[in-house]
Amino acid sequence: MISIIVAISDNNAIGKEGQLLCHLPADMKHFKDLTIGHTVIMGRKTFESLPKGALPNRKNIVLTTKESTEYTNCIVCGSIQQALEICKEDESVFIIGGAHVYAETIDRVERMYITHVHHVFDEADAFFPIVDFNRWTEIERQKFPADEKNLYPYTFVTYLRK
Ligand SMILES: NC(=O)c1ccc[n+]([C@@H]2O[C@H](COP(=O)([O-])OP(=O)(O)OC[C@H]3O[C@@H](n4cnc5c(N)ncnc54)[C@H](OP(=O)(O)O)[C@@H]3O)[C@@H](O)[C@H]2O)c1
Repeated sequence: MISIIVAISDNNAIGKEGQLLCHLPADMKHFKDLTIGHTVIMGRKTFESLPKGALPNRKNIVLTTKESTEYTNCIVCGSIQQALEICKEDESVFIIGGAHVYAETIDRVERMYITHVHHVFDEADAFFPIVDFNRWTEIERQKFPADEKNLYPYTFVTYLRK
């Protein structure tokens, strides 16, 4: 199963200046709970945005066109096809961004874990591709208010391709 996991704002934004739009600890935990023990595939820019490099206890695959690149505790691949070929049939694979990689994979994933962050970020420069939600079935939804640690309200939604 190949899934996208992403946090998207009300204006479809996902990032700004190479970083996430906001720090939502609840979403970080959600991301960790879902991906731990599994495989994550990301673009080189998203990898470079990780504060401590490779995500622990996950198989990290980083995409780059730059040959002979090496990143500690990561497998480096030159194409999405190559990345998927080194994953086994029964592996849970998560596409974790960024904008370029989401756009390149959205037509081939079966599931999306979207955290809808209920706020408009005007200064964003990275966006999720436009989704035709008629093609997806919502199978789970959990809504949460803002609190002292999570500055914006957010909803975890799981979508399966119809
Ligand atoms: N909200 C969220 O859930 C979320 C999640 C992840 C990231 N983000 C945000 O998204 C932004 C980064 O997105 P981005 O689009 O700028 O960068 P990106 O998708 O993370 O990385 C793009 C780079 O990945 C490599 N790449 C992409 N597709 C490839 C392919 N098919 N084959 C080989 N290499 C490939 C290329 O690296 P080379 O240039 O080295 O060839 C490309 O320049 C940041 O702001 C980040 O914080 C948000």
